[in-house]
Amino acid sequence: MPSAIVTGATGILGREIVLELSKHRQQWPTIHALSRSKKENYPDNVIHNHIDLQSSAEDMATDLKNVRGEYIFFAAYLAQDTEQKAWDVNGAMLHNFLEALTKTGAIKDVKRIVLVTGAKQYGVHLGEPKQPMQESDPWLTDDKWPPNFYYNQQTILLKFCEKHNVEWVVTYPNDVIGFATGNFMNLASAVALYAVVSKELPGYDGLVFPGSPDFYTKFDSFTRSTLHAEFCAWAALEPRAANQAFNVVNGDAESWQNMWPRVAQYFGTKVKPDQFSAKDLKSDASSSSELAPEPPLTLLADKTGLLGTPALKPSKVEQHVDIVKWSQRADVKEAWNKIAEREGLDKSIFEKATWDFLGFVLGRNFDLVISMSKARECGWTGYRDTWHSLEEVFEELKEAKILPKA
Ligand SMILES: NC(=O)c1ccc[n+]([C@@H]2O[C@H](COP(=O)([O-])OP(=O)(O)OC[C@H]3O[C@@H](n4cnc5c(N)ncnc54)[C@H](OP(=O)(O)O)[C@@H]3O)[C@@H](O)[C@H]2O)c1
Repeated sequence: MPSAIVTGATGILGREIVLELSKHRQQWPTIHALSRSKKENYPDNVIHNHIDLQSSAEDMATDLKNVRGEYIFFAAYLAQDTEQKAWDVNGAMLHNFLEALTKTGAIKDVKRIVLVTGAKQYGVHLGEPKQPMQESDPWLTDDKWPPNFYYNQQTILLKFCEKHNVEWVVTYPNDVIGFATGNFMNLASAVALYAVVSKELPGYDGLVFPGSPDFYTKFDSFTRSTLHAEFCAWAALEPRAANQAFNVVNGDAESWQNMWPRVAQYFGTKVKPDQFSAKDLKSDASSSSELAPEPPLTLLADKTGLLGTPALKPSKVEQHVDIVKWSQRADVKEAWNKIAEREGLDKSIFEKATWDFLGFVLGRNFDLVISMSKARECGWTGYRDTWHSLEEVFEELKEAKILPKA
């Protein structure tokens, strides 16, 4: 029976891969979970080891001397403040880790390596891509777009696998709905904190969607972290998945016009009927900024016949309520402190929530429709309902005492 090695084992995606594999003891008797910190309590078929992926291949080889596995899941990630640094740092972490496996000799056992990346593959952070997004869409390598560290990681992986005769799989999840201990960089916790605190503010008269009024009626494709983990376990072993990259999203197309009223109801309130009217907003409450001068859509514009059309104008991030500014307001902080004291919650949680990330995810003014056809044609049948995904994570957040129970 095979063993697995999972890097990024405490992250929002890596943690679920460890938990998913560990559930299937017969299939996966040993799972080596690797991260810098050791903050998880894993089942007894998981061996959790410290590794610093920013150290040299030689140093990592020392840390990895008792670690062997047939299947590797690389889900480590280190955010950087520029795209070039993200390229350098995340590329080096993967490269040096793979080199360390050759130094220890563990590479001789490896059959397949699964690399977790994301829908930035299509430039969703730069503007509107061609829709639906498909794995065969060309990479945005032109100088007019910033470097994309996923391209560096995939190039490193493919070269390495070719040299060592190992199979590979790459995943492209999007807007992940999940939970990781002590990691608040997730959509669900920021949405939940926003709703809970809004309700507590003096004069509150209904929940207001803070993102783009345009995006409110457009579609997004989300990835439940547990579904992504099931996908990784499937893709590691499925012969038809070998040497392929796959989109991994829930399989429904959702919109906030459908989910926001449910968010409101979940937190015991209602959406403000005229939530997008400007009359109640403080003067500095809204914001709008342009993304890349040319959206990714332009790459295929000649082939798709869109040259010279308004579809190629720069995309925007529009926030009806600028969520970062909102999170810094004195009355908002005061409301949170009141809730935290009343409910016995950790006050620092609110500042740790990634408000800028939420502002971006809700503020884009274009659809994000991601095709699951390729995976389905290879035999993948997994699916999650996106609203139920959010609800599940809200429940986990309550259990973890990040949200009030009531
Ligand atoms: N989160 C999303 O919404 C989302 C959406 C689409 C795609 N993705 C992509 O999914 C991939 C995984 O991201 P994520 O969001 O799951 O990341 P994450 O929650 O931030 O977790 C990152 C993981 O990497 C580990 N790590 C970071 N630096 C390390 C180092 N020097 N040595 C050892 N381990 C290190 C962390 O361990 P420690 O706990 O020890 O720091 C943690 O386990 C990334 O490519 C990301 O771009 C994420």
